[in-house]
Amino acid sequence: MTPQDRAAAGFAAHFGAAPDGVVFAPGRVNLIGEHVDYNGGLVLPMPIAVGTAIAWRARADSRVAAVALDYGNATDDFLLADPANVDPFDWRGYLRGMAACMAERGLPLVGADLAVAGSIPRGSGLSSSASLCIATGRALAAAAAGQPPPDALELSLAGQMAEHRYAGVKCGIMDQLAIAAGEPGSAVLIDCRALTTEVIQLPHEWAVMIVQSGVERGLVDGHYNARRADCEAAAAALGVESLRDATREMVDAAPIDLVIRARARHVVSDIARAARAVEAIAAHDLAALGRLFAQSHASMRDDFEITVPAVDRLAALLADTIGEQGGARMTGGGFGGAVVAILHADAVERVRATVLEHYRTPSGAAPDIMIERFAPFGRPKNEA
Ligand code: GLA
Repeated sequence: MTPQDRAAAGFAAHFGAAPDGVVFAPGRVNLIGEHVDYNGGLVLPMPIAVGTAIAWRARADSRVAAVALDYGNATDDFLLADPANVDPFDWRGYLRGMAACMAERGLPLVGADLAVAGSIPRGSGLSSSASLCIATGRALAAAAAGQPPPDALELSLAGQMAEHRYAGVKCGIMDQLAIAAGEPGSAVLIDCRALTTEVIQLPHEWAVMIVQSGVERGLVDGHYNARRADCEAAAAALGVESLRDATREMVDAAPIDLVIRARARHVVSDIARAARAVEAIAAHDLAALGRLFAQSHASMRDDFEITVPAVDRLAALLADTIGEQGGARMTGGGFGGAVVAILHADAVERVRATVLEHYRTPSGAAPDIMIERFAPFGRPKNEA
């Protein structure tokens, strides 16, 4: 059953009537450019098949009532005038944060009943939280019928604000914009300083493979904010507003702490790699793109120090199995999560079989694998 069908059925079971509509927001996988969004850099994520569906119905009052179908039908209920955070933080904080931040950005809101169902594996680094925020925003906007729907950037900025203020994660804008502005079956190049997006079509004879390491990650754990603080320290030491303005020469020459230097080296080099990845895609040069993936992974492992041994092993297994025609790297915030590989579509079954044979998650299970394919004209043909 799709999340949309589950959301609609769960809505009817919980609220005793059919919803007015169902919205969907995908997850995202980042192809390249990691931890560079909050440094004003370039990133190349793409929306994926899994995501979050919300069945919604407008209410006559200013209350939001919600049921989370993936959390044992746990419920939430709050007034739009008082979307206080929850402690300890959980899924309800994203709904409340989204409502609060949409209101703060001047987006029209009315009360709504919501049933939420998602298909993004938790802790996978595939942006389940941004997907939930954008889906919530779309549902609340749809309920406020007659109002012009908010544009993708507005919704994204509200989602980012909700992460900062409610989840306490000082994330960049990549996830929200990839989800709100990306097109299925294509990557999207985001300039995180200019806040512009450009859809990048990939050759349809290539495929993206996403393999879960089985090491669950959580952004709400301090590591993420610590890396962001390192980057801010590096920018301050280099005398630039953000690391987008730094060059490799500046980083190598500056008399700065070695750890801070390494963090900056990762950011500056991964921004350059994102730009080169777009050139490799335009040239249909899978080998060049694979080399950029390998360099990016090594940089995250050695300089940014956000990989874990299981993820390193999985990335190496994928890279070795794929060979020269493609590559693999960890995707997302780090400290677990998924590895993304780019490869020729013809190689998918061979690579999948090898990974299933040789990789086990820390609990001893076979890893979950998703394939995202590119049809001609950038339309997707996704399979789980
Ligand atoms: C998380 C954040 C993003 C981005 C990535 C790392 O997904 O939400 O803003 O920083 O990590 O690239």
